[in-house]
Amino acid sequence: MTITFILNGEDVSVRATSGDRLVDVLREDFGLIAAKADCRKGTCGKCLVLVDGRLVPSCMIPAFKVRGKEVVTFEGFVQTVEYEDIRQGVEEAGLETCGFCESGLLLALGSLLDSSARPSREEVLEAISSVQCRCTDPETTIAAALAAADHRARRTYRRDRQ
Ligand code: FES
Ligand code: FES
Repeated sequence: MTITFILNGEDVSVRATSGDRLVDVLREDFGLIAAKADCRKGTCGKCLVLVDGRLVPSCMIPAFKVRGKEVVTFEGFVQTVEYEDIRQGVEEAGLETCGFCESGLLLALGSLLDSSARPSREEVLEAISSVQCRCTDPETTIAAALAAADHRARRTYRRDRQ
């Protein structure tokens, strides 16, 4: 079957079987390798992407389910102004992530700030619980999220006053 959807802002079509998972289509048909297929059970968070703005593990989504929807991968997210807030927050807090977790963790923080402009510590912990990372200090991730929220607040304030 042919599936048409929006991928990182562009209309795309791809042929897939009913058993193809979104993570594999992204990686193999589109060369978008930031989402990684590790556990394939929806638990590790290494394959997270945004589908219609919702953070989802792409290993659990049959590709045909995104027909007509909007998919954003980490590759697309880094092109956005919203990512710049996260990047600055991460830099300020000194958050270091490995190549396996980076995309899921930063997409999770981006998604969090979209739903909560000033997230609480608990909200940050809840958001990052979707990524199984055993090396980063949660306090550093919280600091990164709060710094990113500050950047976003300042940026939107400036934009509102223009
Ligand atoms: S590979 Fe999808 S959650 Fe682990
Ligand atoms: S950042 Fe990858 S295991 Fe912690």
